[in-house]
Amino acid sequence: MKKILVAHDGSKASDKALKAGVEMALRFESSITVLSIVPELYLTELNDVDRQRIMTALTDETQKALDKVRSTLSAKSIEAKTIMRQGQAAEKILETAKKMKVDLLVVGSHGRHGTKKFLLGSVSAKVVDYSTCPVLVVK
Ligand SMILES: Nc1ncnc2c1ncn2[C@@H]1O[C@H](COP(=O)(O)OP(=O)(O)OP(=O)(O)O)[C@@H](O)[C@H]1O
Ligand SMILES: [Mg+2]
Repeated sequence: MKKILVAHDGSKASDKALKAGVEMALRFESSITVLSIVPELYLTELNDVDRQRIMTALTDETQKALDKVRSTLSAKSIEAKTIMRQGQAAEKILETAKKMKVDLLVVGSHGRHGTKKFLLGSVSAKVVDYSTCPVLVVK
Protein backbone atom coordinates (compact mmCIF):
# COMPACT_ATOMS: atom_id res chain seq x y z
CA MET A 1 0.00 0.00 0.00
CA LYS A 2 1.84 3.05 -1.28
CA LYS A 3 -0.53 5.99 -1.06
CA ILE A 4 -3.13 6.86 1.55
CA LEU A 5 -5.49 9.81 1.15
CA VAL A 6 -7.37 11.16 4.16
CA ALA A 7 -10.36 13.47 3.64
CA HIS A 8 -10.41 16.06 6.42
CA ASP A 9 -13.14 18.64 7.07
CA GLY A 10 -11.87 19.93 10.40
CA SER A 11 -14.39 17.85 12.40
CA LYS A 12 -13.61 15.56 15.33
CA ALA A 13 -14.72 12.62 13.19
CA SER A 14 -12.21 13.51 10.50
CA ASP A 15 -9.49 13.89 13.16
CA LYS A 16 -10.28 10.28 14.08
CA ALA A 17 -10.06 9.31 10.41
CA LEU A 18 -6.70 11.06 10.19
CA LYS A 19 -5.42 9.19 13.22
CA ALA A 20 -6.43 5.87 11.65
CA GLY A 21 -4.89 6.91 8.32
CA VAL A 22 -1.62 7.79 10.02
CA GLU A 23 -1.55 4.44 11.83
CA MET A 24 -2.05 2.63 8.53
CA ALA A 25 0.60 4.76 6.83
CA LEU A 26 3.14 3.95 9.55
CA ARG A 27 2.32 0.27 9.46
CA PHE A 28 2.53 0.00 5.67
CA GLU A 29 5.20 2.68 5.13
CA SER A 30 2.79 4.54 2.85
CA SER A 31 2.80 8.21 1.96
CA ILE A 32 -0.03 10.19 3.49
CA THR A 33 -1.93 13.07 1.93
CA VAL A 34 -4.60 15.10 3.70
CA LEU A 35 -7.28 16.64 1.50
CA SER A 36 -9.74 19.34 2.45
CA ILE A 37 -12.49 20.69 0.21
CA VAL A 38 -13.72 24.25 0.50
CA PRO A 39 -17.45 23.98 -0.19
CA GLU A 40 -19.21 25.91 -2.90
CA LEU A 41 -21.68 28.59 -1.86
CA TYR A 42 -25.23 28.28 -3.06
CA LEU A 43 -26.53 31.42 -1.39
CA THR A 44 -28.04 33.22 -4.36
CA GLU A 45 -29.05 36.14 -2.13
CA LEU A 46 -25.38 37.13 -1.77
CA ASN A 47 -23.83 39.76 -3.96
CA ASP A 48 -20.45 39.02 -5.54
CA VAL A 49 -18.46 41.06 -3.01
CA ASP A 50 -19.96 39.23 -0.02
CA ARG A 51 -19.62 35.90 -1.80
CA GLN A 52 -15.93 36.62 -2.43
CA ARG A 53 -15.44 37.66 1.19
CA ILE A 54 -16.98 34.47 2.50
CA MET A 55 -15.01 32.33 0.06
CA THR A 56 -11.78 34.02 1.15
CA ALA A 57 -12.63 33.44 4.82
CA LEU A 58 -13.47 29.77 4.19
CA THR A 59 -10.32 29.25 2.15
CA ASP A 60 -8.16 30.88 4.84
CA GLU A 61 -9.77 28.80 7.58
CA THR A 62 -9.27 25.59 5.58
CA GLN A 63 -5.64 26.42 4.80
CA LYS A 64 -4.96 27.16 8.47
CA ALA A 65 -6.55 23.86 9.53
CA LEU A 66 -4.43 21.99 6.98
CA ASP A 67 -1.26 23.81 8.11
CA LYS A 68 -2.06 22.81 11.67
CA VAL A 69 -2.53 19.18 10.66
CA ARG A 70 0.78 19.20 8.82
CA SER A 71 2.72 20.77 11.68
CA THR A 72 1.16 18.47 14.30
CA LEU A 73 2.17 15.45 12.23
CA SER A 74 5.57 16.91 11.44
CA ALA A 75 6.25 17.26 15.18
CA LYS A 76 5.81 13.48 15.32
CA SER A 77 8.20 13.05 12.37
CA ILE A 78 5.36 12.17 10.02
CA GLU A 79 5.64 14.11 6.79
CA ALA A 80 2.19 14.54 5.26
CA LYS A 81 1.27 16.36 2.09
CA THR A 82 -1.80 18.59 2.24
CA ILE A 83 -4.12 19.55 -0.60
CA MET A 84 -6.99 22.00 -0.73
CA ARG A 85 -9.66 21.92 -3.44
CA GLN A 86 -12.84 23.82 -4.00
CA GLY A 87 -16.19 22.41 -5.00
CA GLN A 88 -18.57 19.63 -4.13
CA ALA A 89 -16.83 17.60 -1.39
CA ALA A 90 -17.61 14.00 -2.42
CA GLU A 91 -17.00 14.71 -6.09
CA LYS A 92 -13.62 16.35 -5.43
CA ILE A 93 -12.53 13.65 -2.99
CA LEU A 94 -13.33 10.92 -5.53
CA GLU A 95 -11.67 12.86 -8.35
CA THR A 96 -8.49 13.45 -6.31
CA ALA A 97 -8.30 9.80 -5.21
CA LYS A 98 -8.58 8.70 -8.81
CA LYS A 99 -6.04 11.20 -10.16
CA MET A 100 -3.53 10.33 -7.44
CA LYS A 101 -4.20 6.59 -7.89
CA VAL A 102 -4.36 6.15 -4.12
CA ASP A 103 -4.43 2.69 -2.58
CA LEU A 104 -6.70 3.67 0.30
CA LEU A 105 -9.11 6.51 0.92
CA VAL A 106 -9.93 7.31 4.56
CA VAL A 107 -13.02 9.24 5.66
CA GLY A 108 -14.91 9.75 8.91
CA SER A 109 -18.40 8.25 9.20
CA HIS A 110 -19.68 11.76 9.96
CA GLY A 111 -18.32 15.25 9.61
CA ARG A 112 -18.87 18.82 10.67
CA HIS A 113 -22.62 18.60 10.52
CA GLY A 114 -22.37 15.62 12.80
CA THR A 115 -26.00 14.54 12.96
CA LYS A 116 -26.22 10.85 13.76
CA LYS A 117 -29.66 10.61 12.19
CA PHE A 118 -28.11 8.74 9.28
CA LEU A 119 -25.63 5.89 9.48
CA LEU A 120 -23.19 7.86 7.34
CA GLY A 121 -22.91 11.53 6.41
CA SER A 122 -23.79 12.41 2.82
CA VAL A 123 -20.14 12.84 1.81
CA SER A 124 -18.94 9.54 3.26
CA ALA A 125 -22.01 7.74 1.86
CA LYS A 126 -21.31 9.04 -1.64
CA VAL A 127 -17.60 8.24 -1.37
CA VAL A 128 -18.37 4.66 -0.33
CA ASP A 129 -20.89 4.27 -3.15
CA TYR A 130 -18.76 5.60 -5.98
CA SER A 131 -15.13 5.03 -5.04
CA THR A 132 -13.15 2.70 -7.26
CA CYS A 133 -10.46 2.23 -4.60
CA PRO A 134 -10.80 0.73 -1.11
CA VAL A 135 -12.35 3.07 1.47
CA LEU A 136 -11.83 3.02 5.21
CA VAL A 137 -14.77 4.62 7.06
CA VAL A 138 -13.70 5.50 10.58
CA LYS A 139 -16.34 5.52 13.33
N1 LIG B 1 -15.29 19.47 2.84
C1 LIG B 1 -14.69 18.31 3.08
N2 LIG B 1 -13.38 18.14 2.81
C2 LIG B 1 -12.76 16.96 3.05
N3 LIG B 1 -13.38 15.90 3.58
C3 LIG B 1 -14.68 16.00 3.88
C4 LIG B 1 -15.42 17.20 3.64
N4 LIG B 1 -16.70 16.99 4.06
C5 LIG B 1 -16.75 15.72 4.51
N5 LIG B 1 -15.55 15.12 4.42
C6 LIG B 1 -15.18 13.75 4.81
O1 LIG B 1 -16.36 12.97 4.91
C7 LIG B 1 -16.53 12.54 6.27
C8 LIG B 1 -18.02 12.51 6.57
O2 LIG B 1 -18.54 13.83 6.52
P1 LIG B 1 -20.01 14.16 6.00
O3 LIG B 1 -19.98 15.54 5.44
O4 LIG B 1 -20.47 13.03 5.12
O5 LIG B 1 -20.88 14.09 7.35
P2 LIG B 1 -21.72 15.24 8.10
O6 LIG B 1 -21.03 16.57 7.94
O7 LIG B 1 -21.93 14.73 9.47
O8 LIG B 1 -23.11 15.23 7.32
P3 LIG B 1 -23.61 16.09 6.04
O9 LIG B 1 -22.50 16.94 5.54
O10 LIG B 1 -24.09 15.05 5.07
O11 LIG B 1 -24.75 16.90 6.59
C9 LIG B 1 -15.69 13.48 7.13
O12 LIG B 1 -15.29 12.91 8.36
C10 LIG B 1 -14.50 13.70 6.19
O13 LIG B 1 -13.65 12.57 6.21
MG1 LIG C 1 -20.52 17.45 6.06
